[in-house]
Amino acid sequence: MVALPSRIIIYTLGLLLVHVTRVTPATISSSPAQTFNGIGGSGAWWPNDLWHFPEATRQNLASLLFSQSGLGLSSYRYNIGAGGVNVSNPTRAPETFFVRNGVYNFDADQQGRYFLNEAAKRGVSSLTAFANSAPPSLTSGGASCNGRFVSGNGDAYGTFLADVISHFHSQGVNISLISPMNEPDSNFGPSPCGQEGMQVLPNQRAEVVNGLWNALQARGLASTVGILADESSSLGSAVNEYSSWLPQVINKVAALVHHTYDFPSDSSYTNYVSNVRNQFPGKLSWMSEICCSLGNADGSGKGWSGGYDPTIKNALMFSSLVFQSLVLANEPHYDFWTLVSNGLGCSPQNNPSCATSPNSNGWNDGLIYYDGNYARNGNFQLYIKKQFWTYKHFGNFVKPGSQRRAITGSGSTKFMMAVTDSSHFYVIAMNPNSADTTLALTFPESVCATEAHRTSASEDFATIGKATGGGNNWSLPLRANSLSTYIFNRRAC
Ligand SMILES: *[C@@H]1O[C@H](CO)[C@@H](O)[C@H](O)[C@H]1NC(C)=O
Ligand SMILES: *[C@@H]1O[C@H](CO)[C@@H](O)[C@H](O)[C@H]1NC(C)=O
Ligand SMILES: *[C@@H]1O[C@H](CO)[C@@H](O)[C@H](O)[C@H]1NC(C)=O
Repeated sequence: MVALPSRIIIYTLGLLLVHVTRVTPATISSSPAQTFNGIGGSGAWWPNDLWHFPEATRQNLASLLFSQSGLGLSSYRYNIGAGGVNVSNPTRAPETFFVRNGVYNFDADQQGRYFLNEAAKRGVSSLTAFANSAPPSLTSGGASCNGRFVSGNGDAYGTFLADVISHFHSQGVNISLISPMNEPDSNFGPSPCGQEGMQVLPNQRAEVVNGLWNALQARGLASTVGILADESSSLGSAVNEYSSWLPQVINKVAALVHHTYDFPSDSSYTNYVSNVRNQFPGKLSWMSEICCSLGNADGSGKGWSGGYDPTIKNALMFSSLVFQSLVLANEPHYDFWTLVSNGLGCSPQNNPSCATSPNSNGWNDGLIYYDGNYARNGNFQLYIKKQFWTYKHFGNFVKPGSQRRAITGSGSTKFMMAVTDSSHFYVIAMNPNSADTTLALTFPESVCATEAHRTSASEDFATIGKATGGGNNWSLPLRANSLSTYIFNRRAC
């Protein structure tokens, strides 16, 4: 046997041990896709609890949601309560301004108004008001759930909503979008109910929109406050029901907003979007509510379910849904459901790993969590889930007025996009796989890397090395199981 020179042995070992990162090429389009309108979530029903927290915690929460040091949200959905009549869970029973037709108590719902005001004060530009139910006297059962919209009440209901919007405008809170029926496909019964809800049959929906539009018009608000409809809980029901009512009022609807509780495949989502474009040319659609799924980082295995998963796996799974709406469906706006939740599924005071470990009793319906027993045990701590940090990439860098640029080429995936404003490119890219890769990215103009952030199992929006390269060509490392944002100035270095 001939002894191998040691040099060759070392060389051979080196080849086996050196970890080779795959480099994949891609190109940013020179022309913009959609212009973004907002990234946000809803103020239901946590304000009813968080209102009771110490002022310092409420302010901290408002910063976590609405300031750039936190999520930097540009959209907030305020819930116009229906008084919670027959809703058994007090957290989900918001107060109503409605006393009787034309008579209001605008001192009601100080809980919800507090956080709406914080959003407005901190510059959240897209403020939506939405209702799960009309006030009880306008529903079939005289309650805030388990009933139906009563035909003939369109003007009364529209008048109430328009008066609420007018009132907020007079307080300097410029609500610009109003959604009169959130999930009209269900009444959320039987009574006692878990939340407010009002069924609005497809053949009643045009009346609701007409009543609201007329009332806005009478107050000079029809051109500044857009009506959103119809927040169907699934894309499947939206597609099936639009044709029976929407053509009657399409010119009075600012955007078609939907939930995706059917967790549509890419082809179902594409089908919905092309349907909307064909039937209602020029009308925007967007995501106004989603939560509550387990599944894998790449979005496989997603679906409506209970279970709390605060790990990077679930955070990337929810990021895959944001990419599906913004990249695949080309939609301009994205709202997660409830930004803050008590659905930890465990007691953080008795169990130190409660908030940081997955469990099957909780719910993935929030980004920030709190102890549902705060009133008894005095625990006012906030618990931040990994999904908070991944959503911050979108909240911080997908701003109203900025535009998406498609990324194409063999190294592109459906989980990446570039966003431009007048001075920057932001490249937001997720690697849901277990191997690191490097994106060799060609820009349509000379740019200069400035900084980068990454969220992974061990990093929370951590500052990482900026992209390397020059001119139009840059290398962006995409670590396994992470979401990164690389930032560039729109000029040569
Ligand atoms: C509301 O609750 C009351 C008392 O339990 C019940 O009689 C009534 O039927 C409920 N209303 C609806 C619409 O379910
Ligand atoms: C709200 O709208 C009014 C009227 O258009 C405007 O004067 C005011 O500056 C706006 N307030 C905010 C906070 O944007
Ligand atoms: C940038 O990359 C493209 C595509 O790989 C290549 O054709 C071009 O020559 C590169 N430009 C420079 C200045 O390296």
